[in-house]
Amino acid sequence: VETIRVVEARRPEAIGREVCIRGWVRTRRDSKAGLSFIEVNDGSCLGNLQVLAPASLPNYETVVKHLHTGASIRALGVIQASPAKGQATELLAQQVELLGDADPNTYPLQKKNHTYEFLRTIAHLRPRTNTFGAVTRLRHRVSLSIHQFFHENGFYYIHTPIITSSDCEGAGALFRVTTLDLEHLPRQQGRVDYTQDFFGKPTYLTVSGQLQAEAYACALGKVYTFGPTFRAENSNTTRHLAEFWMVEPEMAFYELADNMNLAEAFLKRIIADALRDCAEDMQFFQERVDPHLLPRLQHVLETPFQRISYTEAVDILSRAGRVWEFPIAWGKDLQSEHERYLAEEHFRAPVILYDYPRTIKPFYMKVNDDGRTVRAMDVLVPGVGEIIGGSQREDRYEVLEERLQEQGLDREAYRWYLDLRRYGSVPHSGFGLGLERTLLFLTGLTNIRDVIPFPRYPGHAEY
Ligand code: 4AD
Ligand code: MG
Repeated sequence: VETIRVVEARRPEAIGREVCIRGWVRTRRDSKAGLSFIEVNDGSCLGNLQVLAPASLPNYETVVKHLHTGASIRALGVIQASPAKGQATELLAQQVELLGDADPNTYPLQKKNHTYEFLRTIAHLRPRTNTFGAVTRLRHRVSLSIHQFFHENGFYYIHTPIITSSDCEGAGALFRVTTLDLEHLPRQQGRVDYTQDFFGKPTYLTVSGQLQAEAYACALGKVYTFGPTFRAENSNTTRHLAEFWMVEPEMAFYELADNMNLAEAFLKRIIADALRDCAEDMQFFQERVDPHLLPRLQHVLETPFQRISYTEAVDILSRAGRVWEFPIAWGKDLQSEHERYLAEEHFRAPVILYDYPRTIKPFYMKVNDDGRTVRAMDVLVPGVGEIIGGSQREDRYEVLEERLQEQGLDREAYRWYLDLRRYGSVPHSGFGLGLERTLLFLTGLTNIRDVIPFPRYPGHAEY
């Protein structure tokens, strides 16, 4: 007998087949007529498979009638058309086997709606809920779209290092990497001698693979990196994690406008794939999380992204007739309230902001002819705010050197990076898309801790 997954067993084409399925019991209901209905989920889709267990089963009284929510079972039988609403098929069982019981007195996921806060405390069991099953399948689909999109467009996937000695964003939000040995080294006047550390110099968990991706773009043309990145910002917000996944394309011969075009096409592709291939899960988010989700995503797909300069944005915001928590002034970074106003209320569409003041952006962004702004771009979307950050890169050796100095960075540490401007320098650009911010955008969920399996944030590194 063939073992199939619930997603396959739920399709009408499965009717008539004798199969075996395995999964976890969501609920069990016993009818007076001597029949039990067991809802089984195996994670392959949102829906459950209803297993009909007749009282004639030899273990009906001893096992079936004691199946608890959360228990794992194996059931063998024939798929038949189901008269019940919301499902095309059901399994008429000839055998039901208990694999692992779940004590109803302690199993935390009883059949009721739990809060996201509570589910965060049981991150090892929350993948068994509808919401986290759907998030997980979507996260997989988005990751696949990322690889497909770049592969189809001639990009190479580069594995940039996780441990690095450079601080790409220059924001100082770094986690230091050290060995246990070093922690036990005697300290001189309380200070550790890092020349004796494993790498002979201080190293950190990467905040971005961009700088290394630039080296490869300046040889292979178009590349991307996609992996975990780390930020020790002490920001306890619903939009920040200490460990998050970022996809970073980097393209030689791309100017800022090319970069914007790519970012827009990329984001639209991710949305279109999700709507098409995760239709059932997306419908679930629409019904259970955010009733405006699907119309909003459809609208984003059909609307050209607005493109305005930082200076124009400051103008719009100062004339918005609002009292901002963070006052608006040219030269100050925009806050989430400003970004969301632009995308959600003013334009009601994604917005690409470009040409930011040089003082609030990292050293690697290309300085404009005005000398005051850099060729930065941030993509802001309704519901989330900043989802992408990128720029055209400074490709002039002298200017880059000056920028390093201006930001107090060690020239020696960036010697290799300067080399890229010394030998065969080309205009190039790239950006970073946060995977978890993308998932907030696609699901309508509002807390970033609920779209990554095991979230890391201040005070939290369980598991
Ligand atoms: O704007 P960021 O800091 O840009 C960079 O790191 C560039 N080096 C990218 C590049 O040009 N290659 O981060 C890019 C994106 C943000 O727009 C946001 O979506 C996400 O990464 N992000 C975070 N997501 C979750 N938690 C955090 N702490 C994040 N910080 C940034
Ligand atoms: Mg940014």
